[in-house]
Amino acid sequence: MRADASGIPDRACYDTLRNLVSQRRSVRRFRSDCVPREIIGLVLDIARLSPSAANSQPWEFVVVEDEALRRDVARAAASLFSELRKRDQSFNWSISVQPFLTQAPVLIVVLGDRRMIEAYPSILRGGVLLRQSLAACIYGLQLAAESLGLASAWGTIQGGRPEAEIRQILGIPECFTVDHIVPVGYPDEEEVERAVALTPARERGVRRRPLADVVHWGTYDPDRIRSDDEASRFVWTDTVTRVLPYPAGRRDGPSGC
Ligand SMILES: Cc1cc2nc3c(=O)[nH]c(=O)nc-3n(C[C@H](O)[C@H](O)[C@H](O)COP(=O)(O)O)c2cc1C
Repeated sequence: MRADASGIPDRACYDTLRNLVSQRRSVRRFRSDCVPREIIGLVLDIARLSPSAANSQPWEFVVVEDEALRRDVARAAASLFSELRKRDQSFNWSISVQPFLTQAPVLIVVLGDRRMIEAYPSILRGGVLLRQSLAACIYGLQLAAESLGLASAWGTIQGGRPEAEIRQILGIPECFTVDHIVPVGYPDEEEVERAVALTPARERGVRRRPLADVVHWGTYDPDRIRSDDEASRFVWTDTVTRVLPYPAGRRDGPSGC
């Protein structure tokens, strides 16, 4: 890599990557325009190049374009949310992608081949490495989509009736996990703008903690650890899905770290 007089390497590649990473947003409203298979192929080509535990590459992708199939998959995915909504009323389900899956012209169902777990060290076979590998892959997929002018979001399924239904609808063998659906399409700019205008900043997912707050050089700086209250306040005021006011003095989250 070239360096300038002050020893700073040529930043063009870094700047391109940073722009891509910082402009990507979860988009939950799509235009109905088809996305050519060649373009989806380019996106998945990047996804398959992702790192994975033991290079196990546990991912396979079912690309659902057919409208009737998409509707069935979306209905199954959304059913999880109607169940959960009853149980967790402080959760802001309205900004979840699941209710909008029907709008996206392409649903990419990301499968994880459980048989690859055998590649992992015997004490680490609980499935965590498999899921971490899929997470790395999905982020690569989302960045690739962004680089091609496509919007995407991350839909979590994870278990229960929705997973069983989707498995059945798409004929997915039992050896695969069916935990994630990534809708892909061209963003419906008008709808996205309208949603942004109606959504408080914290719910748009635009906020990130500053670099100085998350980096410790050398050893952990204990003076900068967030108190349990600050951590809980962050959950209730800065993450995207808690909609009730912060309950003062709340201490039932993870603590004592
Ligand atoms: C592991 C994981 C699971 C997620 N699950 C969902 C989901 O089920 N539904 C959804 O709408 N967004 C989901 N998201 C997207 C996050 O809400 C989103 O990335 C976050 O709010 C930051 O917003 P941004 O993607 O616009 O930067 C998930 C993201 C990750 C990394």
